[in-house]
Amino acid sequence: MKFFDTHAHCDDKRFEGEYEGGTHGVISDCLNDNVSYIINIGTNLENSRVSTELADRYERVYASCGIHPSDVFYDSPDEAIGVIEELLKHPKAVAIGEIGLDYHYEDVPRELQAIYFEKQMELAKRLDMPVIIHDRDAHGDCMEMIRKFPTVKGVFHSFSGSAEMAQELVALGWYISFSGTVTFKNAKKPKEACVAVPSDRLLIETDAPYLAPTPHRGELNRSSYVQLTAEEIARLRGVSVEKIEKITTENAKRLFRIK
Ligand code: NI
Repeated sequence: MKFFDTHAHCDDKRFEGEYEGGTHGVISDCLNDNVSYIINIGTNLENSRVSTELADRYERVYASCGIHPSDVFYDSPDEAIGVIEELLKHPKAVAIGEIGLDYHYEDVPRELQAIYFEKQMELAKRLDMPVIIHDRDAHGDCMEMIRKFPTVKGVFHSFSGSAEMAQELVALGWYISFSGTVTFKNAKKPKEACVAVPSDRLLIETDAPYLAPTPHRGELNRSSYVQLTAEEIARLRGVSVEKIEKITTENAKRLFRIK
């Protein structure tokens, strides 16, 4: 089986030194193992550019470019987002992200996060591109923002909301992606949510190098571990892993318009 990892940060510094061959080692190993495609996710201008370079180098790697709510410290939001817009011209840039709101730490002003989020949603509307949403402890405000842009669709990544919120998103035309957190023993909400999502809206991801699934929790994560998330979702939904492999691949290709 080959799985589509819709969200990884293979360029993360942690791979240098902690994984043999660093970024290139981990990408090659995963693509040669059980991974069909990887979307490498940008969080700022620098790694959004690196994502497009990785997409140039690997046939089955695609790029997402955007400014994460923890990286919103450019002198001019408009200039920074202008750079993102240029990067999105890359033929293998398939989404804007990750963008959104993160209220977990208090160190980034919420108003500033909202400015970048809204401007990048406007960009998605103008370019007609899907978005990848980072929503940490900010469910209400994220829902409010996406409702302002009814023509923009995308995915809530590493979903941490309730089953009801997942259904609400699905009704609005959105996709829901689950990471290794669904495998954690006490992860009641993601386990319930992943059962509530219809087959045609379900995605899987690693968020590597973070959020390694059980039994690798706390270790360096990598795209090949996405299979463990698929296995847990299959168990919870009472279907085969092959079925989860198939539908999540079809869904990712549809959302990100990959032929
Ligand atoms: Ni991420």
